Amino acid sequence: MKYYLGIDIGTSGTKTVCFDEQGNIMTSKTVEYELYTPQPSYAEENPLDWIQAVKTTIRQVVEEGYLISGIGLSGQMHGLVLLDEKDKVLRNSIIWCDNRAVQEAEELASALGNEKIKAITGNEVVPSFTLSKILWVKNHEPELYKKIHKILLPKDYVRYCLTKAFTTEYSDASGMQLLNIYEKTYSKEILDYLEISLDKLPKLMESVEISGYITKEVAEETGLTTQCFVVGGAGDQAAAAIGNGILERGDVSLVLGSSGVVFSPILKEDLSTNQLQVFMHAVPNTYHIMGVTNGCGLSYKWLKEALFMDKEYTTLNGFAEKINPLSDGLLYLPYLNGERTPHMDPYASGTFIGIRQNTTNGHFVRAVLEGVSYSLKDCFTLLPKGKYHIRVSGGGSKGSLWREILASNLQENIERIEQSEGGALGVAILAMVADHIYPSIKAATSAILKVLDTTQPNPLWVKKYEQGYTLYKDAYIHLKEYYKKAFKI
Ligand code: XUL
Repeated sequence: MKYYLGIDIGTSGTKTVCFDEQGNIMTSKTVEYELYTPQPSYAEENPLDWIQAVKTTIRQVVEEGYLISGIGLSGQMHGLVLLDEKDKVLRNSIIWCDNRAVQEAEELASALGNEKIKAITGNEVVPSFTLSKILWVKNHEPELYKKIHKILLPKDYVRYCLTKAFTTEYSDASGMQLLNIYEKTYSKEILDYLEISLDKLPKLMESVEISGYITKEVAEETGLTTQCFVVGGAGDQAAAAIGNGILERGDVSLVLGSSGVVFSPILKEDLSTNQLQVFMHAVPNTYHIMGVTNGCGLSYKWLKEALFMDKEYTTLNGFAEKINPLSDGLLYLPYLNGERTPHMDPYASGTFIGIRQNTTNGHFVRAVLEGVSYSLKDCFTLLPKGKYHIRVSGGGSKGSLWREILASNLQENIERIEQSEGGALGVAILAMVADHIYPSIKAATSAILKVLDTTQPNPLWVKKYEQGYTLYKDAYIHLKEYYKKAFKI
């Protein structure tokens, strides 16, 4: 039997899961790290923390006696890692939910034109994507900018440390906004504007290709061997989609992670007519559309830390179960880090409306689960019309109440699969395909994945949540100008 690691370099921590070649979980190790918010709308992490977490978790797995054949990396997308000529990290990584680069996004839109940027990268310029962040560093840290030798995404920095391969793959690279997603090459026009030469960017490859092998130093530190390979891997959402068998048009991956995601594969010819964001999938030469709410698990984590520090999530879920649907009028808008789709509003902030004398802590919990579900409905309703087959994953999907609220909001059945390791399993599958254990990604997911359960809409809640969703949409319309004014004070 051969063994593979799926390493998911996430926002709150890194999880390394060891699978056998049939996709069974052998062991799983997690190390958490800090998310720094030095100013409102800033979000940074220290890349050295990721490396430490990756090496520690690998060592813990290897010490249990597993000989690892190959590794897949899944990573938080859109982050910016900058190295100097000696490969030293130049500054903390500006991560995916950081919205500081609003003015840079405006500068790019007026200098290059939003329509043109969309025609190249698939999306209008987004302040939280890597492109705007690079320009922010150019405008605000010009001395540091001159020292940049390599520009990397989070998981690709980890790859570089493990193998010395300076490489990325299309699914994550398409979230940088430096890539022409139709031609699968970096855009010269965009790089010229940034005054960045091509050699500062990682080589592009497919997710299922082998990018390199573990170096001797890393082998000594972790117990891996130098025959262990690392595949291209994927951005975390494409990875979770593979790990849930979301490969074809009509499939939908809903992820209740730090961010909340609605992900659906799409044909190349339908790309231009859709209203969501567009990226490349980890299945070679395929695309997907994606709606993202920035504050999904991050909202729940914030609530827990702000109000319920000593309690477990299961206890919080128990409080919420005792509360009526619509939380007796308490409404939550989950815009802790601004909002991506559909509003693309970096100024929006997290909001509770409707606190009354009888509001209890349980109401706050249920309102958070409901508010995030409304924001996912915002994204779901923008998928092209059609019949969808939905699978949910991510930490939040473990709670049956949240799944029921979500199913009732979307008015759709939602499946979970037995193998709950979404992203980590997805990239381990990529490694198995690279190692010829399976002839294709589809063959691997068909052999490995089994449905665990299906959550149906609660008929008593459906109408209520239609009303709640209308109130939620109205609330944003009324608050939009307020958010902008308040942000600028
Ligand atoms: C996707 C996105 C998030 C992050 C963190 O576009 O921003 O999913 O990758 O999970």
